[in-house]
Amino acid sequence: MKRTVLFCAAIILAAIALATSSTAGAKDAATAEFEKFRDVLEEDNPAELFEMKGEELWKTKRGPKQVSLEQCDLGLGPGVVRGAYVAMPRYFADVGRVMDAERRIVHCMVSLQGFKPEEIARQPFSNASQTPEQTALVTYVAGQSRNMKFAIPMNQPGMRETYEIGKAVAAYRAGPYDFSCSSCHGDDGKRIRMQELANISSPEGAAKSVQGWPGYRMTGGVMLTLQWRMNDCFRQQRFPAPNYLSDTITALITYLSANAEGSLYKGPGIKR
Ligand code: HEC
Repeated sequence: MKRTVLFCAAIILAAIALATSSTAGAKDAATAEFEKFRDVLEEDNPAELFEMKGEELWKTKRGPKQVSLEQCDLGLGPGVVRGAYVAMPRYFADVGRVMDAERRIVHCMVSLQGFKPEEIARQPFSNASQTPEQTALVTYVAGQSRNMKFAIPMNQPGMRETYEIGKAVAAYRAGPYDFSCSSCHGDDGKRIRMQELANISSPEGAAKSVQGWPGYRMTGGVMLTLQWRMNDCFRQQRFPAPNYLSDTITALITYLSANAEGSLYKGPGIKR
């Protein structure tokens, strides 16, 4: 069933792409069509398979230490998953730093289960043949905040500074084209090819940016996290690739998530 729906959607999307000329009106029509198909697909979202896989990984005794992640503290106390995703990034006193969801989950895999960070970093994001375990785990954790509001604890130590760093990173121009994030995402209504680019400095744009991640990407059929999105935009910007789970990415995610404060998180989504 899922396969059939996806297959049909892929054909229809391809048809839309072919039928679409470069006029703004046609692009709007294409966007509207995509939104429609996304609504249909979200009823039957492949991301749910990764949520299920992630839940199983979360609850299974694994790694060199053979423990589950059920004692992992995502900020609301050991083992509390519900509502944790929409309240990250946040400050974690045990490590004395601000962490986003993916970073915290990997931290738990290392500190509780004994996995090696360099092994996890070897394949940080999904490719056509493999979905890393942390991607499924992030998807599970995110699903447990479905229909909850972003509530980033900005009064915690280090949060303001981290936000300001993220803001500065978003505005920093460099590289062969002298781009910053804001070159593509600083105004309303910008597009590249048929894709609408969220204005990450506005509350609505920031909400759109964090909404739907982690997301199942129809291009390539892979499950991807917000960490991936950030890394890939560094590539779009022609910047060197950041290290996996770097402070810079946590700062950017803090900036985006805090700007999305109060908006409703609808859960892992679908991206084209
Ligand atoms: C050269 C233009 C360009 C630059 C520079 C750029 N991006 Fe992007 N960004 C894109 C494109 C294209 C997409 C994909 C849009 C889509 O698929 O709908 C995207 C998508 C995103 C998304 C996901 C939006 C959504 O609707 O899910 C976020 C968040 C984002 N970018 C943030 C950033 C940040 C932060 C930076 C700076 C580190 C940055 N981008 C730099 C072009 C750019």
